[in-house]
Amino acid sequence: MATPPDAGGSAGASSAWGGRFSGATADIVQAMNASVGFDQALALEDIAGSVAHSRMLAAQGLMSAAEQAEIEGGLAAIAAEIRGGRFAWSVAREDVHMNVEGALADRIGRAAGKLHTGRSRNDQVALDLRLWLRRELTELGEAVAAAVSALTGGAEAHTGTLMPGYTHLQRAQPITFGHHLMAYAAMFLRDLDRLLDARRRAAVLPLGSGALAGSPLPLDRHRVAAELELDAITWNSLDGVSDRDPALETLSALSILMVHVSRLGEELVLWTSQEFGFVELSDAFCTGSSLMPQKKNPDIPELLRGKAGRVFGALQALLVTMKGLPLAYNKDMQEDKEPLFDAMATARACVGILPDLLGAMTVREDRMKTALADGFLLATDLADYLTDKGVPFREAHHAVGHVVAHCVATRRRLEDLDADALHALDENFGPDALAVLDAARSVARRSLPGGPAPAAVEAALGQARAALAALRERLGAGGPSAIERALAAGEALPAARG
Ligand code: ARG
Repeated sequence: MATPPDAGGSAGASSAWGGRFSGATADIVQAMNASVGFDQALALEDIAGSVAHSRMLAAQGLMSAAEQAEIEGGLAAIAAEIRGGRFAWSVAREDVHMNVEGALADRIGRAAGKLHTGRSRNDQVALDLRLWLRRELTELGEAVAAAVSALTGGAEAHTGTLMPGYTHLQRAQPITFGHHLMAYAAMFLRDLDRLLDARRRAAVLPLGSGALAGSPLPLDRHRVAAELELDAITWNSLDGVSDRDPALETLSALSILMVHVSRLGEELVLWTSQEFGFVELSDAFCTGSSLMPQKKNPDIPELLRGKAGRVFGALQALLVTMKGLPLAYNKDMQEDKEPLFDAMATARACVGILPDLLGAMTVREDRMKTALADGFLLATDLADYLTDKGVPFREAHHAVGHVVAHCVATRRRLEDLDADALHALDENFGPDALAVLDAARSVARRSLPGGPAPAAVEAALGQARAALAALRERLGAGGPSAIERALAAGEALPAARG
């Protein structure tokens, strides 16, 4: 939760950029201009970047080792205040960068003025955002991996649980509940892969781009990248400060993820309805109506569906913000943060609740079975029977359509027909045709890779688990640097590299 900043004091001549100014900033300008109310979420990443930058400056002879030690100690103390909620944020100091630097100056005096050597807030915020994305994508990735585990666990328990599969929301062919859950496991595995791709491209160092035109100072960009365990450095200073692709790419990946979350939510809403009754949710996951005493509402699945909209909105907002901007940095880009932060928090909350939600489900196998009995779900199997006998599929389809029409007219189910009745409808039906009218048999025969047969789902489970293990390995490497981890945990900073 962001701490409301103190509105007191006014920026202008006294601020970090105040040399050119003699008058104070108007209060309404300060209020609109300031971003500290939300970009304080970047504080620990901002400090990590400053630690790495100061170490490089000292190594390059741009500040003394003593100055660097003072700066690093001061930054660590500020990080502790921020973590403990004791830091006094100030609107007059505009944003997180100047709040931290101002607090450093309050604490250590003149040496603090050397920290910003060779740096602009433009490349600083670009770095902060990339570090923030790397950490958040790692944490979200872990939640997605846990959701996949919950889905594969559920699928394993239900490889033999028959249910109707649907197209057009009409009963179509028998499948299993395990197979249905595995469809979501497949989606979330792709999501995890996408999040990791986004994280890899985010983990690049823009620092050294300056305001837009780099720096004449002998900065060692690779050294800063190594300190922060970033894989690469940006190679164009204009792009380095004006690129928000990592945020856009993350929002795109979050949007696709939320499509999947939303569809699962929708199916749970359907399944928990009295019309379907395939699933019951435990009381802990439902709410009642203030008016209708009988109601038990699936609020959480509905919210999973409903919250997708704000994530899509965030993507749209940032796309529109960025599309017309000339190079390089423009203040419009400050609008990147709130939608991104909200979308990430939303996605994390939704994915985070999935394992418990899936655990709160009681699967009503009896209701699924009843639903299988109606709706001619085995008509395709009858057509397949005829094809096995050498009847061209188109003719077989027609013949079975005729059988179904007969059943509809005489208010019967396929299973109500005996061998003679079938034979009378089409002479290619022999006495063995009745054996086809069995959902378990139908599913067991659909054993191609990717099919619903229990054996095929078992195989898919093995593949999903192997894929998950590989993705977890990628997830474990490439997360936040040791400096960021130490700052977040309040531990001593690791020694400088090199
Ligand atoms: N708060 C700003 C942002 O988020 C930081 C960069 C400001 N740069 C500047 N030249 N005013 O975009």
